[in-house]
Amino acid sequence: MPGRGRILLIPGDGVGPEVAEAALKVLGAVEGRYGLGLEVRRAEAGDSAARKYESPLPSHVKDLALRWADAVLKGPVGETAGEVVVPLRRMLGAYANVRLARSLAPSRCWGLVDLVIVRENLEDVYYGVEYMVGDMAFALKVSSRAGAARVATVAGMYASKRRGRVTIVHKANVLRLADGLFRREAGKVLSGMGVEYDEMYVDAAAMMLVRDPARFDVILTMNQYGDILSDLAAEVAGGIGLAPSANIGDGKALFEPVHGAAWDIAGRGVANPTAMILAVAMMLEWLGYTEAGYTVARAVEEAYRRGYTTPDVGGSMGTMEVATRIAGMVESHA
Ligand code: IPM
Ligand code: MN
Repeated sequence: MPGRGRILLIPGDGVGPEVAEAALKVLGAVEGRYGLGLEVRRAEAGDSAARKYESPLPSHVKDLALRWADAVLKGPVGETAGEVVVPLRRMLGAYANVRLARSLAPSRCWGLVDLVIVRENLEDVYYGVEYMVGDMAFALKVSSRAGAARVATVAGMYASKRRGRVTIVHKANVLRLADGLFRREAGKVLSGMGVEYDEMYVDAAAMMLVRDPARFDVILTMNQYGDILSDLAAEVAGGIGLAPSANIGDGKALFEPVHGAAWDIAGRGVANPTAMILAVAMMLEWLGYTEAGYTVARAVEEAYRRGYTTPDVGGSMGTMEVATRIAGMVESHA
């Protein structure tokens, strides 16, 4: 038997199946070049699964993710996205969501952006406790010391491999307890690791991401702030179609593009497959196939240099044409 390489592919909805096909094309090239013995199984989750089965995340898919797969590779999901990805993150214990915002071509406003958002992934308002009392709705924001500490460790590790600097983003001037605990625990962990850090309120961080994104290296933040800031950062770095993410814990992991189902362009074969293919690169690296992951990421960069891109970033190629070019470079490059 080969090493870890059991991948559960959930294509998802909207442009999901198209970018999933693109990812498979690239995985095929990786297999051809490195012979890793990767095994891919497909499963349906999301809006289409909800129509067919009893829920958007059927129990046989949960079983595969939990018992069979080493890693889950998921495309974007439509209306039921929250009912798919939030339970999956929870089930897999994926407490850190690492989201890359890295330019593949310089933009007129911001030049080259290269930052990482490490988003706490299981707590905050995503903890899942909401209730009504009479005419009032309450949503609980949960923040634990253990939760802050473990995600801070991930941010510290990334910073050490990069420019060595973390910015803790919170709103502790209002949420003194919940956000106060997060900033304090995260700061303690980073100090313990010898990682340099500063802090910023989330509103100021949004402004600063637009004014001077180069100021950031690793942003460490709470779940909901990370959700919002990662869309913003992706767009500043060159477009939401470029940004991949890794949901990691101590066991399994889930890889996905930051973008959504993009119904407006679904089925037309023009969706940008970059985020999904870069998610494949992150997955290969996490599985221990560092060189293969690196090769995929380099091939994507080369595709941008040569203008093998989709219309959203100024190119004229379709999804599969871009994927085929990238796959070709994965197979042939030294
Ligand atoms: C994301 C998505 C999800 C989130 C939704 C679909 C629940 O927006 O991965 O960023 O909020 O985490
Ligand atoms: Mn989001």
